[in-house]
Amino acid sequence: METEKLPIEDKRPFVKETNGMFHPPEELSRRGYIKGFAEYRRMYQESIERPEEFWGRQAEEHISWYRKWDKVLEWDFSRIGEIDAPFVQWFIGGKLNVSHNCLDRHLTTWRRNKAAIIWQGEDESQKRTLTYQQLHSEVNKFANVLRKHGIRKGDRVTIFMPMIPELPIAMLACTRIGAIHSVVFSAFSTQALTSRVQDSQSKAIITTDASFHGGRAVELKKKVDEALGDCPSVETVIVYKRAGVPIDMQPGRDFWWHEEMAAEDVKGFCEPEVMDAEDPLFILYTSGTTGKPKGIVHTTGGYLLHVTLSFKAIFDYKDEDIFWCSADIGWVTGHSYIVYGPLANGATSMMFESIPTFPEPDRFWKIIEDYKVNIFYTAPTALRALMRLGDDWPNKHDLTSLRVLGTVGEPINPEAWLWYHRTIGKERCVIVDTWWQTETGGVLITPLASAIPTKPGSASAPFFGVVPEVVRADGTPTEEDEAGSLVLTRPWPGMFRHMNNDVKNQLVKQVYFSTFPGKYYTGDACKVDEDGFLWLMGRNDDVINVSGHRLSTAEIEHALVGHHAVAEAAVVGFPHEVKGQGIYCYVTLRQ
Ligand code: WTA
Repeated sequence: METEKLPIEDKRPFVKETNGMFHPPEELSRRGYIKGFAEYRRMYQESIERPEEFWGRQAEEHISWYRKWDKVLEWDFSRIGEIDAPFVQWFIGGKLNVSHNCLDRHLTTWRRNKAAIIWQGEDESQKRTLTYQQLHSEVNKFANVLRKHGIRKGDRVTIFMPMIPELPIAMLACTRIGAIHSVVFSAFSTQALTSRVQDSQSKAIITTDASFHGGRAVELKKKVDEALGDCPSVETVIVYKRAGVPIDMQPGRDFWWHEEMAAEDVKGFCEPEVMDAEDPLFILYTSGTTGKPKGIVHTTGGYLLHVTLSFKAIFDYKDEDIFWCSADIGWVTGHSYIVYGPLANGATSMMFESIPTFPEPDRFWKIIEDYKVNIFYTAPTALRALMRLGDDWPNKHDLTSLRVLGTVGEPINPEAWLWYHRTIGKERCVIVDTWWQTETGGVLITPLASAIPTKPGSASAPFFGVVPEVVRADGTPTEEDEAGSLVLTRPWPGMFRHMNNDVKNQLVKQVYFSTFPGKYYTGDACKVDEDGFLWLMGRNDDVINVSGHRLSTAEIEHALVGHHAVAEAAVVGFPHEVKGQGIYCYVTLRQ
């Protein structure tokens, strides 16, 4: 017979509900970074009325600069596509380095010995913890390795790796030397990898022999080998041994990570490259209405400030907290809220290699219990899938360490929201439903855990500096509760700056600024209720959102007609209980 566990005494305050609105516990607001709704309103107002003052102050408080900027902001949304000038610039003339901000500046504080990354492997016995000092030395060494292989400021590096600490190490090493990383999701196909390497003209690829996924080894190096035939820009491949499967290594081109890192001449400090605030930081490919994936380019200063401040203000991160974002770093959520936002704050960021249901459907809840995770950030699709498997799985675990729960990637239906609230949060955790996009760099519409009340299914309110409008097709504003298109009328610091290979921002203009001239078109449907709460209602363009992953119908049609037997194809989304949307393909075959 199983021994009965003693009931756990839960001392966390309750979230108060009044008329369908949920309020952060008073204690949370009092101790919070943003102390309640009035403080949010005051700060928001300032960010809109005096953006340069507001963001200038935030940039001084949250970021270490080698040189202060001359001007906080310059922008023009009206002439995009005509001239070769950027449509927005933040912290003009400012100089900084992202890896310095994420690592070096913590080493002179007590955080030096704090866990930066806690990693849980797919196999339960595999765990690693890297302190800020340890992460710093790994990043410095790998940055030296990259320099040794001739990678310089402005060069592009594709990173095709699973969820292991070497992935953020490789990213941070790139930022240290000013190389622009392009992380490609490790489950992508050879074709998807090839087109991204070609578009970015990467000089190097960093990968692993294989990855583990739900008990299987997936051969990544093999995909890289297949891709390389069509990618002449690549001179160097560095391979981390994760699974120990046999692979081909081409002498002169392919190098083992562990051998490179063991060399005498890569030891020691790597001087960070002094970067301009507007220098590109990374490229991340995402699907859009056009058939080809778009290489979204983010820059250094504005992006870093946006993810740093939003991480702190939205999740109300405290120094003793363990934060866990369950996304894959191959998506923007992982870039901004596993790597850059948390590390710039000196936070402890949890990383998990596998999937929520391996080896059993309680893996998420087990990890939360094992590590005493305080803030958990995941996707509605994962919640819906886990909800269907019943409450016994979460109820087996002590989840009382949790304080804040987040969701991202797609609209969350009230039923899943309430399940998250009751079964996972035990009615004591604040839920932050965060709306944003690869293009926005960081969260733009969201509650703040300590300050903004919530309604199940609504992403609540705009973040600092964000001015949303909901408009009809003719551009006029919608009425209360009337659905329309969500547009943004002002720039925010984390906004993308270009699309890779887009001369004069022609594509930027076509995709984002021509539907409603002068305004950024999000492609999302939205409505505003009587309390001013924003309700995101899914895409209203040819993009479908399957399990929180953005897919373009045109891209899928393109893949289908690429098959010799297919004459025509049309792809649409349909509502799906677990995945949010499913894919329906209509195909006519050749005679
Ligand atoms: C959708 C992911 C409703 C939306 C960060 C957006 C959401 C697209 C939410 C961007 C949310 C993301 N509520 N919808 N909280 N978060 N979306 O680029 O349609 O992978 O346009 O960025 O996801 O997806 P992306």
